[in-house]
Amino acid sequence: MKQQRVLVTGASSGIGLELAKVYAQQGYAVVLLARSQAALEQLAAELRSQYKVGVEVLVADLRQPDAAVRVTQDLAQRGLTIDVLVNNAGFGLLGPHAQSGVQEQMDMLQVNMMALTQLTRLLLPGMLERNAGGVLNVASTAAFQAGPNMALYYASKAFVLSYTEALHEELAPTGLHVSCLCPGPTRTAFFAGDKLQNVRLLKFGSQSAEEVARFAYAAFQRNQAIAIPGLKNRLLAFSTRFSPRAVTRKLAQALNQ
Ligand SMILES: NC(=O)c1ccc[n+]([C@@H]2O[C@H](COP(=O)([O-])OP(=O)(O)OC[C@H]3O[C@@H](n4cnc5c(N)ncnc54)[C@H](OP(=O)(O)O)[C@@H]3O)[C@@H](O)[C@H]2O)c1
Repeated sequence: MKQQRVLVTGASSGIGLELAKVYAQQGYAVVLLARSQAALEQLAAELRSQYKVGVEVLVADLRQPDAAVRVTQDLAQRGLTIDVLVNNAGFGLLGPHAQSGVQEQMDMLQVNMMALTQLTRLLLPGMLERNAGGVLNVASTAAFQAGPNMALYYASKAFVLSYTEALHEELAPTGLHVSCLCPGPTRTAFFAGDKLQNVRLLKFGSQSAEEVARFAYAAFQRNQAIAIPGLKNRLLAFSTRFSPRAVTRKLAQALNQ
């Protein structure tokens, strides 16, 4: 059987880096995408020597509105077909909506939602033609309720969850897998910023990026529509169905401080 190839966005650190490792370990050829070229080259060298798989580095800034089109052009020029797309790149902004920088907010929506959507739209036809592979989108447990003090981040992840669930059903009759990974707090550079590293949410436990990545890979192989790693995270996400919205958003607000 032909070797499958995965494109992992946000592969320079955290969950994306661990997902790239898991896919390489499973024998996939890997395309690593992020802005940090040095980190990607280092990971590429490690994966090539450890797992003997093809690894390509693709440096791109997904804040740029034309990034997804450029990425797919670059892939075509290098003759690289993508079987599995892992849309993992993303970041969060903490603070009152009226106080975060407008450009930073728009950049976040561009990376978390628009680039993810455009890459999916551009790479799906090839997957459908080959009737193999699929899309693993990374949302968050933030997708399940509104998040005062991180309003746009929560809203961007709600978009990812809704979009991915719909795609999962649309593509159910095909051989493609579509999953939405919804991690809870995970120990990565996501929380490295001045404000985020002290956020209360982190005081209630967190998972390692490796644990989350291994869970995500297995869930995607099963074509699980929504994959929430960790029992506590699953219970919390489930509880939002029965709690009044006013309660869940106030709880989220208390944790986003
Ligand atoms: N950590 C958590 O608790 C948690 C919980 C739920 C969901 N998530 C989600 O998990 C995903 C991965 O986050 P993480 O926790 O692993 O954080 P991370 O370690 O900060 O990794 C984020 C990745 O996204 C890439 N990225 C950010 N902006 C980019 C841009 N403009 N263009 C291209 N790549 C960009 C970063 O690479 P460069 O900086 O090199 O570009 C990095 O590889 C995100 O979507 C995040 O929302 C995280």
